[in-house]
Amino acid sequence: MQAEADRARRGGTTGLVPTMGFFHEGHLSLMRRARAETDWVAVSLYVNPTQFGPGEDFARYPRDFEKDCELACAEGVDVMFAPAASLYAPDSATFINVERLSRVLCGASRPGHFSGVATVVAKLFNISKPHRAYFGMKDFQQVRVIETMVRDLNFDLEIVRCPIVREPDGLAMSSRNSYLSPQERRAATVLHRSLLVSERLINKGERDPQSIILRVSDSIAAEPLAHIDYVAAVSPETLEPVARIEDAILLAIAVRFGRARLIDNLLIERGKPASRLPLRAC
Ligand code: PAF
Repeated sequence: MQAEADRARRGGTTGLVPTMGFFHEGHLSLMRRARAETDWVAVSLYVNPTQFGPGEDFARYPRDFEKDCELACAEGVDVMFAPAASLYAPDSATFINVERLSRVLCGASRPGHFSGVATVVAKLFNISKPHRAYFGMKDFQQVRVIETMVRDLNFDLEIVRCPIVREPDGLAMSSRNSYLSPQERRAATVLHRSLLVSERLINKGERDPQSIILRVSDSIAAEPLAHIDYVAAVSPETLEPVARIEDAILLAIAVRFGRARLIDNLLIERGKPASRLPLRAC
């Protein structure tokens, strides 16, 4: 893969879309963007064991290699890098830890997760040497961790943030949506609806993060199948709570529906248009 990547870099710009497979429109949108912006597109498909904690869904993470190959091929991807063997030496001793950003939000209930993500992404960058790497903003915290790692360790590449892709009813696309029963799938629409209500409140002038958190939590808690892990209003830079909502705020949520833990977020920036999806009462 390194020899192939070297050859591609000599011929033009190269892009990488790192994934864990089981492709949906979200993944395909990253591939399309990479295809439009770079001369050579690689997609990595590796279910990375080091980012799953004990008791998490590593073994049952959804996989469909044949279908993924067909979908990537249809998007005009040049190379699919899907190592059959572990990417880690049995006595692997080097792990990357992006301090602070990795401990908050999802990091609080998933210790070690972001160290696993940062380490495998660094390895994928070294293996495929892209000029640009494409990540979806549904995993906003992951994007911030990777951006910080790239800055701190002087990786010579650009991270491209790509918008969240949603189902027509607003549910953010995720491979883990496949864990939802039909009832849980219907219930999960509460996530985006409650984020939109908070956006409306902020646009009407609400500046107190606590009252936003309360409103979002209340509307999610009204859904009996939803179990809140966290609802947070944080700085999009540091991911730390803010005392008052000023120019930009990230509303981030993690909620369990049965065996699926889903995340979603809304980045609200002054001067940027509000979300377009219709509001229904929560
Ligand atoms: O977002 C994902 O699918 C994974 O966390 C990533 C970036 C491919 C690293 O394993």
